[in-house]
Amino acid sequence: DHGVKKQVNPKVTTMPNPLYRKHIISIPDFTREELELVVTTAAQLKAAPRDELLKGRLLATCFFEPSTRTRLSFETAIQRLGGNVIGFADGANTSAKKGETLADTVRIISSYTDAIIMRHPKEGAARVASEFSSVPIINGGDGANQHPSQTLLDLFTLQETQGRLDNLTVAFVGDLKYGRTVHSLAQALSLFGAKFYFVGPEALAMPDYLCEELDERGISYSIAETIEEVIPHIDILYMTRVQRERFDEAEYKKIQGQFVLRADMLRNARPNMKILHPLPRVDEITTDVDATPHAYYFEQAKNGVYARQALLSWRCLPPRAQSALSKTM
Ligand code: CP
Repeated sequence: DHGVKKQVNPKVTTMPNPLYRKHIISIPDFTREELELVVTTAAQLKAAPRDELLKGRLLATCFFEPSTRTRLSFETAIQRLGGNVIGFADGANTSAKKGETLADTVRIISSYTDAIIMRHPKEGAARVASEFSSVPIINGGDGANQHPSQTLLDLFTLQETQGRLDNLTVAFVGDLKYGRTVHSLAQALSLFGAKFYFVGPEALAMPDYLCEELDERGISYSIAETIEEVIPHIDILYMTRVQRERFDEAEYKKIQGQFVLRADMLRNARPNMKILHPLPRVDEITTDVDATPHAYYFEQAKNGVYARQALLSWRCLPPRAQSALSKTM
């Protein structure tokens, strides 16, 4: 500071900003307090949109795997906050096609930008990228592993619909093996004392490593045979699509259409029960469910913009920031 003492305004309380320039790779990298910080900020940004928090920032969206919501909601979040974005929606249009390694690709793009949002079909790719990047990497989904920004918007949606994150009862339905959103959300909710039901084909059961983590944290979970039997007992029905792109076509045909939610199955649902789905949906929720008061998946997808704005804003604030984002700007 060149020997000049900074003036401190005693009326302004500051706190360490735990998300400043942090890589966002995996939900276990977050504390409960960091998750709550993003959820609270997302609610503030939804209630009172801002247009300047990323002014002067240039971010990259590098998608080596298809996406509608994650890429476009990140790009919406950035542009609505006054930032700029470069990137690609298909790795086949980049020099990766000529054999350039992910490490070199990331080295180059990180020399152009302030952060990289990346989706990749290989588990662990975001972690590898973080080792070669000079700017933070935000994982937009790595194979069947993790989808942390989806979890942030899911948590925001839980808070918005249930008024709390603690002690919720959640049923996960469908592809629990390859469904990365399920893995990330189950880990996050285990910090808040949740109770889980797992409903899906045996071949697509929750991975052992995740069940072991839940056991270690004392989180209760049960395996159920049908969607109907869990509906009266839950706050959240988290539906997922079978991840056809991640396994054999003959296996897919056997499993497809086994766990489908229809409107007539919701008769015994609690009034507060909401249906979430990371989307895209294929055939696992029939369209008659959309008009029921339990359907919340389209609003959930919209919440992706606010949760991602909250994440990006905190990442760009100084290492010490005021306790509420709305007071800082
Ligand atoms: N939820 C989600 O990740 O959707 P996209 O694959 O469309 O990004």
